[in-house]
Amino acid sequence: MAPSILAADFARLGEEIAAVERAGADLIHIDVMDGHFVPNLSMGPAVVEAVSRVTRLPRDVHLMILEPERYVEAFASAGASMISVHVEVVGELPRALAAIRAAGCRAGVAISPPTPVQALDAVAGDVDHVLVMSVNPGFGGQAFLAESESKVTAIRSLLDQAGNAAPIEIDGGIDAGNAERVVRAGAEILIAGASIFKGGDPGGAVRRLRAAALAGVTA
Ligand code: DX5
Ligand code: ZN
Repeated sequence: MAPSILAADFARLGEEIAAVERAGADLIHIDVMDGHFVPNLSMGPAVVEAVSRVTRLPRDVHLMILEPERYVEAFASAGASMISVHVEVVGELPRALAAIRAAGCRAGVAISPPTPVQALDAVAGDVDHVLVMSVNPGFGGQAFLAESESKVTAIRSLLDQAGNAAPIEIDGGIDAGNAERVVRAGAEILIAGASIFKGGDPGGAVRRLRAAALAGVTA
């Protein structure tokens, strides 16, 4: 369970993170947007650094930016534990993943809804996690795209065929109503913003989402 702080109250970020950490969150997801790859701006290394000071949970940094290689070092120094770059913007993915690992982080690739699974062929054996976007990147609070379920399953097979047990993250529109289905499709890390932070009880939302996801594990 990975709460996305994009939907948190930034004026009370420390309290919001404490609440989800107490409720058993596994990661803190941090969305970085540049106004070019996506039509929105969000946060940079200073926020990762501030989050790192208030939690021991791993910081999962999702770079929705052009030329992400230029910023890997800055996010790693700020306290990122995992960094994902988008397959749509990186020319030489293996080199980008190597740079992320050299900076001391787990190296992931994110894939947007219109991008075919085959775009991941070159890194299937070598990636530490894959982030499947289940909304078009750029904004929190959008509706889950149902076709993402079969995409998760296809990517799971691709990784399995490459002998890679790397987990799949799913990101966008995740709530207690679809958590079981996406877990059954093969997602292991559920990223959720609005469904956790917009209902007034982030801790309770984390627990409900986990309970819903667990139904998919045992199904
Ligand atoms: C969207 C971001 C997501 C977003 C998820 O571009 O990558 O991480 O915060 O938020 P919800 O769960 O509100 O769709
Ligand atoms: Zn994200």
